[in-house]
Formats: sequence, structure tokens, C-alpha cells
Amino acid sequence: DTPLRTLAEAKGVYMGTALTAGELTGTSASIASTQFDEVTPGNEMKWDTVEPTRGTYNWGPGDQIVGFAQQHGMQVRGHNLVWHSQLPGWLTSGSFTNTQVHDLMVKHVTDEVTHYKGEVVHWDVVNEPFNEDGSYRSDLWYNQIGPSYIADALTAAHAADPAAKLYLNDYNTEGENAKSNAMYTLVKSLKQQGVPIDGVGFQAHFILGQVPSDFEANLQRFADLGVDVAVTELDVRMATPASAANLQQQAADYTKVVNDCLGVTRCQGITVWGFNDATSWVPSTFPGQGAATPYDTNYQPKPAYYAIQTAL
Ligand code: XIL
Repeated sequence: DTPLRTLAEAKGVYMGTALTAGELTGTSASIASTQFDEVTPGNEMKWDTVEPTRGTYNWGPGDQIVGFAQQHGMQVRGHNLVWHSQLPGWLTSGSFTNTQVHDLMVKHVTDEVTHYKGEVVHWDVVNEPFNEDGSYRSDLWYNQIGPSYIADALTAAHAADPAAKLYLNDYNTEGENAKSNAMYTLVKSLKQQGVPIDGVGFQAHFILGQVPSDFEANLQRFADLGVDVAVTELDVRMATPASAANLQQQAADYTKVVNDCLGVTRCQGITVWGFNDATSWVPSTFPGQGAATPYDTNYQPKPAYYAIQTAL
């Protein structure tokens, strides 16, 4: 029973999981460290956690994840620096001027990347910048800085840690559609302007049976722009309780995702957004849905786990 991380390493990719600070002991710690070689903090590096009060940093929870990763030879994916969600109240209700918002963003990116310099291998610098129709999401950053906030965030991150691999990350961009076309156009233009961008993350929060048939082709067209790609938040949700047939379909969906990544030389690896159904974000976010991960609520491997193992 070869661990997923060993199989992944042999194929030149990583196999990651999201973890929260509460999962660093017991069964969950032992499975995570045995099976995975990259970790993304589920919440611990988000702005509301790291700077709950303006100017007062709370690095402890993120540092705990980094310490766990280092202890077990796992890489860290930093998540995330600029997003519309999980922002501290002082920032969202602060009525700052456009210039202040810009400067606060650059300071945040600089301070966080500096704190984790040399410890975070991949950074999700900007998360979820687009609407489904490919227009920019109307958030604090776009509304008060304009689309140049993305280049400014990347530039600040690169200055703080030139070795870190800098990504843009979004969901529903896995197939070719209006949203992924917008991401494609943006990445192409950033590359042309010489803005430091290393990769594009595809969250891959899938619904059972709905992995886009053109996922691999879409990953390849981004790779052809000269950037790396990664599957950053994989899960496959279904109605609960799960039927045996649906768990088999889910296994097929996980197989397809692994094959799609392995089919693209520049695909760096796959991260599942939580490795077990006990702590997955799905049931609380999508009522009636769950069973989205490779391990069940008792931390037993599901058909999806064996599917990943076979595909790697
Ligand atoms: C989720 C976390 O898993 C939850 O614990 C939290 O309450 C909300 O955020 N896309 C992302 C992740 O980029 O940061 C989100 O994580 C899931 C969707």
C-alpha cells in the first residue's frame, strides 16, 4: 500500500492536502503526513487570521502548519494573499481611500510573504478574481484599485521572496469557458508585460460526474503560455448519504483529474481541499452535499483514494 506522496514523487508531481491547525495531531496528522507531501493551510494564512487588528500580526496558526510541514518533509502552499473573502473587519469597514487600499494591499503582501520567505514554495497571490461571465469580481481590490491590483500584488510578492512561485487561483476555470478565457487573457497579458507570474491554480471544487471533459486541454493551453499549472483545491461533492454507485462515480472523477494533471508536463501537482469527509468544508457550505474527499468520516480510505493511488 504505497503512500500517495511516494507515487506522486515518482511521477514528478506533488500530492497535497489542505489542513487546519486543529488537524495536526492524532489520526489526521498521521494520515496527512504519510500520504501527502504538500500542505495548504485551510484558513490560517488568510488576512482575517493573520491581521485581526490593524498592525497586530497573528502568525501563530500559520506557523504551526509550516512547522508540521517541515517536520514531515512536506512543502507549503501559501493561501492566500489577496481575496474578496475572509478579510478583517477593520479593513472592510474602514472606508479607506483608493490610495490607502492600494498601500494596505501592498503592505500586507510584502509583510506576509516576508514572514514566510523560504518556507512557502507556492503562493496563491490573488484568489478568485473573476465572475462567471469573465468580468472582474466587484470587490474591494477591483473597485478601489482597478485591474492593476493583480500585477501590483504579484510584483510585491516577488520582491519579498524572489524564489516563491506565484499563482493566480480560481474556481470554475477548469474547462474552457468565459471565466477561464478571462484568466487566460489576463495571464497572457501579464506575461507580455513581464509581471512576475509563475502559475495558475485550478481549484477544482467539482460536482459528482461533472469534471469538464476538456480539463486537460484547458490546463495545456495555460501551460503553453509559459506558466505552471496546479490543481489546488480538489473535491467532488455529492448528495449525502453517499450511495455505493456514487462513490464509484467519484472514484472515476478523481481518476480523470489525476490523469488530466499527469497529461500536462507543467502540471506541478494536486491538492485535495481536505483529505477526509469528517472535516471537509462541503457539508457546511453546500447543505445536503458532502462525501467529497478520498477518506470517509471515520478516516477510512474510499474508492476515490484507491483511484488516486492507481492513477498515480
Ligand atoms: C474555505 C475553508 O475551507 C472554510 O473553512 C472557510 O470557512 C471558508 O473557506 N475556495 C478557497 C478556499 O479558495 O479558501 C475556501 O476555503 C474554499 C473555496
